[in-house]
Amino acid sequence: MSTQTMTPVGTANIPVRRMDFEFDDTIPKYWFDNNPMLTMLLTGLSCVFPEGERMFMRAVRHYQDQITDPELQKEVRAFIGQEAHHGKEHQAFNDFMAKKDLPIARIEAFVKKAIAFEEKNLSKERMLAKTCALEHFTAMFAEMILENPQFLDGIDDRLKPLWLWHAIEESEHKAVAFDVYQKTVDNYWIRSSEMAVTTVMFSFFTGLHTVELMRASGEQRNIKAIAQGLNKLLGKKGFFRGMLPHYLAYYRPDFHPNDRDSTQLRNKGLALLKSYLGDKIALAA
Ligand SMILES: [Fe+2]
Ligand SMILES: [Fe+2]
Repeated sequence: MSTQTMTPVGTANIPVRRMDFEFDDTIPKYWFDNNPMLTMLLTGLSCVFPEGERMFMRAVRHYQDQITDPELQKEVRAFIGQEAHHGKEHQAFNDFMAKKDLPIARIEAFVKKAIAFEEKNLSKERMLAKTCALEHFTAMFAEMILENPQFLDGIDDRLKPLWLWHAIEESEHKAVAFDVYQKTVDNYWIRSSEMAVTTVMFSFFTGLHTVELMRASGEQRNIKAIAQGLNKLLGKKGFFRGMLPHYLAYYRPDFHPNDRDSTQLRNKGLALLKSYLGDKIALAA
């Protein structure tokens, strides 16, 4: 990793941190708990990130000139800056996983086509509502990681910073797309119905990509890995347990992402990231 600098595009609360991760070929193929299911679940998500985050940027950018609040304008630029860097680093990660004989390029091409189809057929309002829905998902997962940093324990040390850095920044900018939506589209029906549709599609395609990647590795019948993975996520002490109220809160007409103040969680996450990266990262105040 090279030295990090802060770009002026960020705000104090949404700093744009430039990362330059290099993923060493000696990192094992199953870098999460030596478990194909958990590894491919996160890899499948990563395949969606670069184009998905570009879609978020386009959805928000469409409304950028309707924003009159100078603070929100700055936050929009910071949001775009952070998402652009996530895309860049996840692309590097995806390229690294592609060398492990996985159909990464095929999934990325599919995601690109699917998003282009949606952008062609859905209204700008819906695309922004979809962005808000997916930002709620990323914020939920991000804050689960920040709340339970032991989630990262099973991940290869060289990959922990990527996931933790992304989690911190998703939490930092979780309200930006939502605030743009409320200031422009501000339609509860579109927001809530789009969340329902997005939940089904996101779950289906996340599952599909996980299965596709496992199949390519000949691991689709590895019941032990699947059972262990599901138990880690959904079992009695599963990391995804307890997320339902957080998810359902989105359907409240008066919901706002900052109803849940996560400043302390992020500070803890930033301290952990610093312990991983040392002086290689300039952390924002
Ligand atoms: Fe992101
Ligand atoms: Fe995001």
